Amino acid sequence: MVIAIDGPAGAGKSTVAKALAAALGFTYLDSGAMYRCVALAGLRRGGEPGEIAATLDIELGERVLLDGEDVSAAIRTAEVSQRASEIAALPAVRAAMVMQQRRLLASGDWVAEGRDIGTVVAPAAELKIFLTADPVERARRRAAELGMSVEAVLADQRERDQRDRTRKTSPLVPAPDAVNVDSTSLNLEQVVAKIATLVPGARAPGMVESE
Ligand code: CDP
Repeated sequence: MVIAIDGPAGAGKSTVAKALAAALGFTYLDSGAMYRCVALAGLRRGGEPGEIAATLDIELGERVLLDGEDVSAAIRTAEVSQRASEIAALPAVRAAMVMQQRRLLASGDWVAEGRDIGTVVAPAAELKIFLTADPVERARRRAAELGMSVEAVLADQRERDQRDRTRKTSPLVPAPDAVNVDSTSLNLEQVVAKIATLVPGARAPGMVESE
């Protein structure tokens, strides 16, 4: 089974997806970490992003490994965030990432988070969530995480959201059958609980009695 959680930066996707995966015994896929690895490799050594994406060895798990090096912290800087959203607009980069993600999701039970999981990577996902929150609240959460000012995070976030939403290839949009969850006034436990209530019906749609 695949649970797709898509949405803009700072809506809480990673925290929610990790907690949900742990609660259900599913594996967690952080697709954003893959775009961040391509961005980091490009910033460090230059080169054409499409080629980098096709040749990088990215390992996801407790730690993120890029060609064997632990880059878990290095991929979370503001510079890498911006660069990730730039290279993520390139069709060749997306094609390479989507191929790897589909290969992973082909077997087993997953909670996968990103921007295009429900629309492009796994359109047949049994459950699709579009997780949003008020932009200022999102910036507040991210600023607390990064130890940055809310204003600086808000400016970066605005730019990245705009780029992610308006790009030609796989823009950030809810899948038509996604359930919208607004996390502005909900804490982690409440969001996870809300999504968890949707899982049994999604897992075995044939078992749900029609009203
Ligand atoms: O954690 P945060 O929401 O800030 O970002 P992320 O999920 O780590 O993604 C970083 C960037 O990668 C995003 O701004 C997107 O441009 C891109 N991305 C994407 O295009 N498609 C995905 N499935 C995941 C991330």
